[in-house]
Amino acid sequence: MKARVLSGVQPSGNLHLGNYLGALKNWAEIQSDYESIFCIVDLHAITVYQEPEELVSKIRETAALFIAAGIDPEQSSIVVQSSVSGHAELAWMLTCVTPLGWLNRMTQFKAKSEKQDTIGDGLLQYPVLMAADILLYQAKIVPVGEDQSQHLELTRDIAQRFNAQYGETFNVPETRLPTVGARIMGLDDPTVKMSKSVTGTNHAIALLDPPEVVRKKIARATTDSQPGVDPENMGAGIANLFTIANACDPAVTRSVVAGMRYGDFKKRVAEAVVARLEPIQKKYKEITTEPGYIDAVLQRGLERVLPIAQDTIRTTKRAMGLYVPGGSV
Ligand code: TRP
Repeated sequence: MKARVLSGVQPSGNLHLGNYLGALKNWAEIQSDYESIFCIVDLHAITVYQEPEELVSKIRETAALFIAAGIDPEQSSIVVQSSVSGHAELAWMLTCVTPLGWLNRMTQFKAKSEKQDTIGDGLLQYPVLMAADILLYQAKIVPVGEDQSQHLELTRDIAQRFNAQYGETFNVPETRLPTVGARIMGLDDPTVKMSKSVTGTNHAIALLDPPEVVRKKIARATTDSQPGVDPENMGAGIANLFTIANACDPAVTRSVVAGMRYGDFKKRVAEAVVARLEPIQKKYKEITTEPGYIDAVLQRGLERVLPIAQDTIRTTKRAMGLYVPGGSV
């Protein structure tokens, strides 16, 4: 049997090149080796306020971009988190075995709560919900970026604590893929990871940006004051652009760009990105103009994963001594 992989992306903001090169591209490449579940984590998104109408269309857009980026809905299950009530149910049960101190220590919680006037309880519970996403499907492998490793460690701690208190119930996710693709930084600030939540028009390249927008953003990307590209000594901005170009088009190697003036280099980077995005955007257009396609994909994903989720919920309830309707099944 193939090992089960699970990962998730929030449907807030626009999916960008960092999401593609750091996650989606990799998911598409590994999907045939595993039983893959890719989750659109809308319950995580609402830990900070989302415009309702915008959120629901972002959920569909995210699903369409997963497919456009190469995730094959015949092979992999694309699931909207809130469609499977087990995520929220299990999160509650796990909350009850999670010491508050563990959650207070989460660095993302600290960083996010500094930006809010009032801190919603959901923000504190965020990593418990993430643990529920993973444990609900007894996933073995969770490909995530470095920024999520503390949350993954917490997931393991929660699973172990639950198993110790109530008996072996959860698989403790052991493995993480060693590399999950390139780490892409912001164009305006190459010291921070490219992020959906950073506002500013020149921070990220959205997967649906038209070619002229891509070119303009890259032309404006932060560089340094060297006259040209020195492959042995790239500043953070140039190094980031090189990583992007090379990940989009492996023909753009260090020796190809050596000595290029920054203007020419940026043009080469832009062409690599535009060429990489073109088939994604074409596929996106195709599937979003086909009526009912996305909903059918999400329905299929739901039907595939629901029995797994229900099974874990029953097992967990039984372990904790909660009542399972339908008798002693
Ligand atoms: N917290 C993750 C992020 O921001 C998203 C996420 C939610 C996730 N649930 C998950 C990732 C389960 C992997 C597995 O990137």
